[in-house]
Amino acid sequence: MMDGGTRIQDRNDALVADALAGLTARQKTLSPKWLYDHRGSALFEEITRLPEYYPTRTEAGILRDNADALAATVPTGGALLELGSGASVKTRTLLDAGGHIGTYAPIDISRDFLFETAEDLRHRYPTLDIVPVVADFTAPVALTAALTAVPKVAFFPGSTIGNLEPSRAQALLSAVRDWSDIRAFVLGADMIKETTTLVAAYDDAQGVTAEFIGNILIRLNREADADFDPSTFDYRATWNAALARIDMHLVSKRDQHVTLANEVISFADGEAIHVSAARKYDPQMLAALARSSGWDVNRQYVDDQAYFSVAVLTPMKQWS
Ligand code: AVJ
Repeated sequence: MMDGGTRIQDRNDALVADALAGLTARQKTLSPKWLYDHRGSALFEEITRLPEYYPTRTEAGILRDNADALAATVPTGGALLELGSGASVKTRTLLDAGGHIGTYAPIDISRDFLFETAEDLRHRYPTLDIVPVVADFTAPVALTAALTAVPKVAFFPGSTIGNLEPSRAQALLSAVRDWSDIRAFVLGADMIKETTTLVAAYDDAQGVTAEFIGNILIRLNREADADFDPSTFDYRATWNAALARIDMHLVSKRDQHVTLANEVISFADGEAIHVSAARKYDPQMLAALARSSGWDVNRQYVDDQAYFSVAVLTPMKQWS
């Protein structure tokens, strides 16, 4: 406690370092992983229920239609490890179909949200071993001895792979390929489609996505000693066809100075912070990504509209 009982700021050194590096670069950037504080995680769950945001419900349909086959990728008594589990809602489809699964390990950066979810899952699946892992899955994840010992399947749904630039996506797939006794990687990826559909999914009429992306400034104020006025930034989503990605920006509405951990950051009127990219993968791009990181595409499930795909990757034999 400080004088007067004010709570010492909940300063997050990793966030400060990352935000300073990103906001002092020529093209200002923030990493999307910082979007998921408690409020951000809740706002994202709200996005998944928006009429424009087709990925979640489309993927959920694919998972439901193929639940038995997907759950069967996990050997009896084996573990399902989910990267960036959030509220683990769609995972329940696999857990419901996978009574033989021994362990579910949700891996997420949002600690409070992860533990709340784990508690809820323990009530829903009393015989399943729930092992939450607080980790940033964009860096190598240290597995517990128990998780290392069992045969395992990685589950990375939601097209979160699209948040990573291709070299990072490849590094993640390679790192998981190196886990001991890894049997499969179940990967959900959004596909390329009409621009209006893509843009609407990231710029919804209710403005929930704008609130979700803008929340990163509120978080910087709270955890990185910053003084952003969020009302002075607009949200903008655009489709970059050449890179097959949606870009999400916060655009300054005026010339202004912002302080972050004692550094002054200047914004010109109209200057944008790149907060997130959502890459879309057609089957050829996905296969190329998989092969470059030691995986074969064993099979790929796609919905009727070819909006979204769920691929089952299996370890390439001669990978070292
Ligand atoms: C959770 C990363 C898959 O990129 O579609 C949704 C995040 N950002 N709307 C996505 C997000 C804005 C979402 N992922």
